[in-house]
Amino acid sequence: MSNAYSKDLERWLPRLISVWRASRGREDGPEGRLTPQEVKEVGAGVKQLSLGLTRERQLAGARYMDDPRLLGAYLLFYWPVSYAQARQVLGELPNRPRHVLDLGSGPGPVAFAAMDAGASEVTAADRSKPALELARKLATEAGEALATREWDPLKKNATLPEGQYDLITMGHVVNELYGATDEALKPRAALLESVLTKVKKGGSLLVMEPALRETSRNLLKVRDLLVERGYAIRAPCLYRGACPALVKETDWCHAERAWPMPKVVEELARVAGFHKESLKMSYLLVAPKGEPWPEPPPGRLFRIVSESLEGKGRQRYIGCGPEGRVGLAMQERHRAEKNEKFFHLQRGDVIEATDLETKGDGYALGENAEVRMVAQAGRGVPPAPKPPEAPREPAAPVPPEKP
Ligand SMILES: C[S@@+](CC[C@H](N)C(=O)[O-])C[C@H]1O[C@@H](n2cnc3c(N)ncnc32)[C@H](O)[C@@H]1O
Repeated sequence: MSNAYSKDLERWLPRLISVWRASRGREDGPEGRLTPQEVKEVGAGVKQLSLGLTRERQLAGARYMDDPRLLGAYLLFYWPVSYAQARQVLGELPNRPRHVLDLGSGPGPVAFAAMDAGASEVTAADRSKPALELARKLATEAGEALATREWDPLKKNATLPEGQYDLITMGHVVNELYGATDEALKPRAALLESVLTKVKKGGSLLVMEPALRETSRNLLKVRDLLVERGYAIRAPCLYRGACPALVKETDWCHAERAWPMPKVVEELARVAGFHKESLKMSYLLVAPKGEPWPEPPPGRLFRIVSESLEGKGRQRYIGCGPEGRVGLAMQERHRAEKNEKFFHLQRGDVIEATDLETKGDGYALGENAEVRMVAQAGRGVPPAPKPPEAPREPAAPVPPEKP
């Protein structure tokens, strides 16, 4: 994570702690940190949330935000994680959003991430009143204006907030809607379609989900339903067909970014018994109906969608680009200045490569291969350069005026 994001996040931590203490009717404690007793207590809630939202999933779709203990654990642990994830993904937007709607906001990590990324008018919507109340308190603490609105798409005749938005975000909420079976996929896609009608031309819908195999694959299946219906994906997909990560049951696609974990989060992770060393999430930036797929720069492009898969005497990754999902491998002995980058790629980077020979499940980069970084993970892929304008016809000479 860039330093700019971590500095912004550091400013939120004392606010999170102070709003949490006030909400639990606590005496004041040390500023910006938790006491060992508080760490223990909140850590137990984090563990319960983690089991319920990831492993056992019995909390997905349940009203855990209305339980003050679990809401507090969410605020102090998952809020900073979602904030950092959202800041990462917002870095890929083609333009800065001003008017933002955050659906399934909880206590607002994605809403505040959008604000810190330059949004001037932000509305947070959720069905949990206590979560929205905490979001409002955080806004007051930060001296920011945040509109809130109750919203539950599962209710009959549910309506979306009024207005059109540059960006609508849905952070870790879609996987909680319409149940846990494949029957949830169509209604989820239909919901996203109705949400997309509220996105202005040139704007985006951001859907972010946990990087678990099941939740990621379900997001990819919903992506395919939207792509079939003619929607364009702004990021991370460069491939315009059905998602190739769905072909094999064991594959999925997620982002992973290094981040300096804030101290409070690190302490809670330790007590809860897990190490959250990197940010992991699955996401999609979807364009509203009728907008074309972004035109990437020319060349053979690949987004790195795996970790580094080093083997004996060679470097390997899985790449996904306009030609699909493929293995990319290069022998150590072909390493040279013009392809050195290939040996240090991160999941999410987009590269252009030359001298590709079909081999195994993809390509081998040959001894003449050149590797160029097109966009580092977390940055948008620059658009194709516009073709030069045709030279204008020289203007016809003006005939001299008759005397
Ligand atoms: C995992 S939290 C995500 C909070 C925040 N967006 C984030 O990214 O950290 C899921 C949120 O979805 C909300 N949610 C779940 N089911 C909902 C529903 N039917 N209507 C509205 N919100 C819902 C929950 O109240 C909760 O705030």
